[in-house]
Amino acid sequence: MNSVVIQEPGKLVIEQRALPVPAAGEVRVRVSHAGICGSDVHIYHGHNPFAKYPRVIGHEFFGHIDSVGEGVDAKRIGERVVIDPVVSCGHCYPCSIGRPNVCAELQVIGVHRDGGFSDYACAPAKNAYVVPDVIPDKLASMVEPFTIAANITAFLKPTPQDTALIYGAGPMGLTVIQVLKGVYGVQKVIVADRIDERLQMAQVSGADWTINNSERSVADELAAEGVRPTLIVDAACHPAILQEAILLASPAARIGMMGFSGEPSLVTQQSITSKEISLFSSRLNSHRFPQVIEWMEQGKIAPEKLVTHWMPASEVEAALTLFEKDQRSCCKVLLTF
Ligand code: NAI
Repeated sequence: MNSVVIQEPGKLVIEQRALPVPAAGEVRVRVSHAGICGSDVHIYHGHNPFAKYPRVIGHEFFGHIDSVGEGVDAKRIGERVVIDPVVSCGHCYPCSIGRPNVCAELQVIGVHRDGGFSDYACAPAKNAYVVPDVIPDKLASMVEPFTIAANITAFLKPTPQDTALIYGAGPMGLTVIQVLKGVYGVQKVIVADRIDERLQMAQVSGADWTINNSERSVADELAAEGVRPTLIVDAACHPAILQEAILLASPAARIGMMGFSGEPSLVTQQSITSKEISLFSSRLNSHRFPQVIEWMEQGKIAPEKLVTHWMPASEVEAALTLFEKDQRSCCKVLLTF
């Protein structure tokens, strides 16, 4: 089989590998579609502190089960499945309270262990979720990015009366916008980004008001309209955003963070406590696949609005470059295997 392997930072090779054999409790998936995420690019460049090399990247993937390991029902062969990349120990404190995404021994498929940019990939059987026929093959791998939005919004508990402000209209911001509008019915969703084309995508995904904050300050624009967001999500993840978000937030607002920067953010206790702001962070997803599959099945979210490119896996290097360098024309790239 062919596998996309990052042999060492900066060195991508499409390698011929032997078919993997599913271990006990695992399934093997014949991969047909996989999505590119920023973290794949980070592993490629050696900027992901968790990655070990050589590594088959890819943690957003869909395919058919074609083989099962010991202890897995052979009736599962043939199932159309998406894979939850979160592999957890099941007995540490976070696992015991239903948060395997921050397991003490967390293994992320495509980061800590080999992933889905490969003709075949193995994963624990319990991580393979059946995709209903109404979701087409070419969009099924989009379940995973929406689980990130499902996870952060589960903390934020949006309501229709919220006025939400989202920083960043990349894939992450767009999934959050769609979930706020389509699932929670949030009345007003404001989106700030520095790229007009991304803001247009935000509108297509349901944003009510967009602000290009390379030209105009979000603070000035909101002040002119007398708007104080009650719910803010930082899906741009620059360390300076937290301070601005706290400043702009309404008293009693909730703020969601999803960034991994190692740089400090400058915030004061007073700015947070005086308004009794709730700060939430969110990483990956905790058992959110069934929920997202249901949202997709019910048409509450529209993953096709994020996808700008489908490319053959043989062009993976060009696809990664396009994804990284051209944020005006490119948002989500799906590879076909
Ligand atoms: P992306 O790079 O495609 O999108 C980020 C967007 O933010 C871009 O459109 C950019 O123009 C915009 N932006 C940058 N600085 C800005 C600023 N100061 N104000 C407003 N907009 C700004 O990235 P993607 O894939 O959407 O991911 C966003 C972030 O989410 C990344 O930092 C990534 O590491 C993080 N992430 C976190 C996850 C988690 O589970 N916590 C999972 C996946 C991604």
